[in-house]
Amino acid sequence: MPVSFFSENNNGHIISRITYNVGEVTRATSDSIRTFVREGLTVIGLLAYLIYANWQLSSVFFLVAPLVAVLVKYVSKRMKRLSKKMQETVGDMTHVTSEMVVGVEVVKSFGGGEYERKRFAQASLNNRQQFLKLVMTMSIHNPLIQFIISLALAGLMYLALILMEDAGPGEFVAYLTAAFLLPRPIRQLSEANGEMRRGVAAAESLFEVLDEPLEEDDGSYEKDRVVGGIEFRNVSFTYAKEKALALNNINLKIKAGQTVALVGVSGGGKSTLIKLLSRFYEYQEGGIYLDGVELKDYSLANLREQIALVTQHVTLFNDTVANNIAYGCLEGVSRDQVVRAATDAHAIEFIQKMLQGLDTEIGENGLNLSGGQRQRLALARAFLKNAPVLILDEATSALDNESERFIQLALDKVMKDRTTIVVAHRLSTIQRADVIIVMEEGRVVEQGTHSELLKTGVAYKRLYDLQFNSQSVEA
Ligand SMILES: Nc1ncnc2c1ncn2[C@@H]1O[C@H](COP(=O)(O)OP(=O)(O)O)[C@@H](O)[C@H]1O
Ligand SMILES: [Mg+2]
Repeated sequence: MPVSFFSENNNGHIISRITYNVGEVTRATSDSIRTFVREGLTVIGLLAYLIYANWQLSSVFFLVAPLVAVLVKYVSKRMKRLSKKMQETVGDMTHVTSEMVVGVEVVKSFGGGEYERKRFAQASLNNRQQFLKLVMTMSIHNPLIQFIISLALAGLMYLALILMEDAGPGEFVAYLTAAFLLPRPIRQLSEANGEMRRGVAAAESLFEVLDEPLEEDDGSYEKDRVVGGIEFRNVSFTYAKEKALALNNINLKIKAGQTVALVGVSGGGKSTLIKLLSRFYEYQEGGIYLDGVELKDYSLANLREQIALVTQHVTLFNDTVANNIAYGCLEGVSRDQVVRAATDAHAIEFIQKMLQGLDTEIGENGLNLSGGQRQRLALARAFLKNAPVLILDEATSALDNESERFIQLALDKVMKDRTTIVVAHRLSTIQRADVIIVMEEGRVVEQGTHSELLKTGVAYKRLYDLQFNSQSVEA
């Protein structure tokens, strides 16, 4: 799925589709199908025998058949509708729970406990109501079917006494035994039908996901290692469902090996521009070229191999430090390379202090690490990837001045032989760049070197006075 799918759909609902809905389908396609086949064949066999033994008598069953059919049809429809609602409520519960778990510190510090409790209680209540309706439907439906069948049997019994007057006792008993064997498999069929409807409803929601357009990956161009020239030509981009242009007619030329700093007030479109480079979103107008080849012509995997991306929000996995650094390239990377990357990112200092060093488990999303430590791990991951294009989106924002200065040294070394795009707010990082690009409201408003922009740039001058002046004193 493209990134837009994940930003448009709620996490809880995506997760519950994979866990709950798939479970429902599994149940319907294993147990229920088995019951369907076994009991269905039993019913057919019994009916065949009954018709063969005495078709006039057996036609009693065909009298009640339409009644049963109407009932089953109604219940099937209702089951499906209730199951759909039930899935929604399971999704809501997952959603509320996961938000609460992930945001536990905010919940606690802003006194959101009561609010979250209510929200969860509400979701849980909805879920219970839907489930009760579901159970109630089946609890009324099954006995009702039984009742109708019993009525038919009573009628049958009565008629048998009249119609089978001249039949022998053996024939009579055989016929009635077969007739009285019918209700059990019919009950099981009706129960299985309920389960099947739940399964079908769940399957529909899964197929909705499967039918969503896949991440576009039509390109076939591949290159082991690009040189790293990047060009934006008249690129405009709008996030789906938004009206405003997030990027408005961007034209940029970044030479291979250059370091480019993107600056501007937040919301200017810097992160968006970077996301387009990795093709997390598809631009609507213009073209982006890497080494002169449009991004769409690259195979996605190959394109993303060329880019090492570090964002402000570091994602770490519940695994060892080493595996987190080597994420995505676990095989084919030696321990030495991991250590070197960690050293370059100045992460080795704190890693060595950990109990098991590189083999320490860092826990769920690295919650036991500080912001700066997490960023250093993310940098190490990017250094290890050793891609020709390095993108740092506020990747050093959580570092203190001292670690930043160290990392800057490492970055200087890494940046030398690759194209680097940095979004940064620190003057020292920006001054080092070959080109500074100032973005405002999705446009590139100015570009040039630090000294050029200080002389001629209006927007840059304003940013400089507001943001950097105080820093330049301490730097
Ligand atoms: N996933 C998204 N869906 C819709 N709008 C978004 C999304 N991400 C960012 N935007 C909007 O796009 C604009 C540019 O955002 P962004 O590129 O993140 O700015 P910057 O990184 O310069 O602070 C903002 O107005 C923001 O609200
Ligand atoms: Mg941003």
